[in-house]
Amino acid sequence: MTPFSEIIHKDTFTRDDIIRMLTCTGDEINELFARSAKVKEENVGNVVYFRGLIEFSNICSKNCYYCGIRKGNRHVKRYNISDDEIIEAARFAYENDFGSVVLQGGELESEAYTARIENLLHRIKEISDDKLGVTLSVGEQSPEVYKRWFAAGAHRYLLRIESSDQQLYYKIHPTEKKHRFERRIKALHDLREAGYQVGTGVMIGLPFQTAENLADDLLFMKNLDIDMCGMGPYIEHHETPLYQYKDLLLPLEERFVLSLKMIAILRLLMKNINIAASTALQAIDPFGREKALQLGANIIMPNITPGIYRDDYNLYENKPKITQNAEDYKRFLEERIAQIGNVVGYNKWGDSLHFKERSGGEAG
Ligand code: 5AD
Ligand code: SF4
Repeated sequence: MTPFSEIIHKDTFTRDDIIRMLTCTGDEINELFARSAKVKEENVGNVVYFRGLIEFSNICSKNCYYCGIRKGNRHVKRYNISDDEIIEAARFAYENDFGSVVLQGGELESEAYTARIENLLHRIKEISDDKLGVTLSVGEQSPEVYKRWFAAGAHRYLLRIESSDQQLYYKIHPTEKKHRFERRIKALHDLREAGYQVGTGVMIGLPFQTAENLADDLLFMKNLDIDMCGMGPYIEHHETPLYQYKDLLLPLEERFVLSLKMIAILRLLMKNINIAASTALQAIDPFGREKALQLGANIIMPNITPGIYRDDYNLYENKPKITQNAEDYKRFLEERIAQIGNVVGYNKWGDSLHFKERSGGEAG
């Protein structure tokens, strides 16, 4: 059997290598994290980029079994932030040198919705002298819609595959037209074709999920040649259908370590992509995101959704609440990032170096 220290130093990894790393224990975990930290440092440096996250609406037409804001949850107070408030949040990001924002919302498809996002993109570019980068995270849409938004100025898109295993996908989503696995895969290809830097990701520690599934998720990302990844632990929400399987779940602490391992291994597999330290990590450990940044992630998404709405975007329970105002929060994050020997890359888009390489172009 190949020694563990040899596996982590490989350049290409087999499915078995990945499973071995996912299931490592004790000192091997520290070895893996030290290796991924080094690979991060050598390839993307110690700069962490901010993406101001604007959760502009929790109205969603889908019914994912894991998600607290699914259409079928009647206990959610639905909101839809006005365009002016969204622009104000974007202005805050711009004036605080964030470099880019993420517009995230429940999944809706209509001409009115397409036009609304298009108009918002134009306005964000206008108020920021064309400088603020915009990532969209608004789900599956037609190729035409993706192209329109790209033309209006969006340049990155996040669409998590949630699980790359079709069987598991249908255990966590209804088996009907609105939740087709094939369409999600196609959407990822359409996004790439439209010119976006494409990000995907999965939930880690789902009921029924195996180490083999997670290894395949990582290989899926590698094969898709993604530019960015956002992934984090699955955290059960009692108002969702998946909650009935809560007894099958790993303890939260184990889901947390498994999530960190996923980030570390992805960094070994895809050395120069952007990897986000997801907020869900912080729901389990107050230093969750910093730990992820230390061992491989290089992106953080501070929530800049206006305070009055922030508490209603509860995808999962115990979603961290931000009590400071936005300026204090920025300073707080800056300090935490300095504590782990990283610096914030202000005023830059912080594009994926991987994207730069594959497109042969300039990344901002
Ligand atoms: N636990 C963790 N992540 C969740 N998401 C949705 N519900 C949960 C949950 N219960 C994630 C999904 C989605 C992203 C916006 O939030 O991966 O893509
Ligand atoms: Fe809607 Fe996204 Fe939640 Fe699914 S995960 S129900 S698409 S907000």
